[in-house]
Amino acid sequence: MDIKQYLEARRKQVDAALDLFLPEAKGVLAEHIKAMRYSLFAGGKRVRPILCLAAAEAVQDYDNEFPHVLLLTACALECIHTYSLIHDDLPAMDDDHLRRGKPTNHMVFGEAGAILAGDSLLTYAFELLSREGLETSATERLRIISLISKAVGPEGMVGGQFLDLTHEGKEVGYDMLREIHSRKTGALITASVQAGGVLGKCTAEQLHALTRYGTQIGLAFQIVDDLLNVEGTQEQLGKAAGSDAARNKATYPALFGLDKTRKKAQEAVDEALAALEGFDERATMLRKLAQYIVTRKR
Ligand code: IPE
Ligand code: IPE
Ligand code: MG
Ligand code: MG
Repeated sequence: MDIKQYLEARRKQVDAALDLFLPEAKGVLAEHIKAMRYSLFAGGKRVRPILCLAAAEAVQDYDNEFPHVLLLTACALECIHTYSLIHDDLPAMDDDHLRRGKPTNHMVFGEAGAILAGDSLLTYAFELLSREGLETSATERLRIISLISKAVGPEGMVGGQFLDLTHEGKEVGYDMLREIHSRKTGALITASVQAGGVLGKCTAEQLHALTRYGTQIGLAFQIVDDLLNVEGTQEQLGKAAGSDAARNKATYPALFGLDKTRKKAQEAVDEALAALEGFDERATMLRKLAQYIVTRKR
């Protein structure tokens, strides 16, 4: 299977599972659930849930039949990611009007509606992760919840968002820039890979390698996001282009220029691939995903 077919197949599985696991927009909360579903089904690439599934597949044979707990975890990761996008676009944050090719959540549901839709997506993710009756032990589940919550809290994504916003318009050195990118985007991507590995029953050594892989592709993902913000168009990206420079964001192109930025993204991917050296052919898609992350056009 080539990477395009793989992404398409997994995206369909993730979309179907999300639709199944999310509450229906009816009853007194219909408008609120509609707001959650609006951003969730606006056409995301599903990179984090797919990385979770691919990491599990890299250490375990599934034959296309994923256990419930793995799909649930994949969906929880996408709910958290979507919440982060809704809040990232708010007027008090990046103040963006377009996301996933559609008007941003607050443009449609108002600021309060968007804040609450984000709040519910984040909280619902943990409801999914802690659901009873799954085919894993409580200890394993706690491990997953612990690593994901650490990745998206003050030490990870939210901390990174704080640093991103507080460094707008400031001169930022390489150490701080890497820190911002690793936290705001890298941490959730790393946790997605780790969660897949743990649910696939990886060894401690494999988890260590998967963590190295996740850290590098997570960084590469945000470096490429920076590049696309300069080189892409709004039509192609489904979100604003040129906005980082307009807001004086700390980015790789701003610090290094385009050529060096491209090199840095490829270097991170090469390091990610090196981390997978001890894995067999079951990690083929994980390897191809790393390359996809630097060649993607949206
Ligand atoms: C965009 O993430 C925000 C970042 C963390 C860079 P994606 O590029 O994965 O966005 P979607 O999910 O496909 O919309
Ligand atoms: C998004 O970073 C990071 C999170 C949402 C956690 P950006 O603000 O750089 O991403 P885009 O360009 O709006 O997608
Ligand atoms: Mg932002
Ligand atoms: Mg933004």
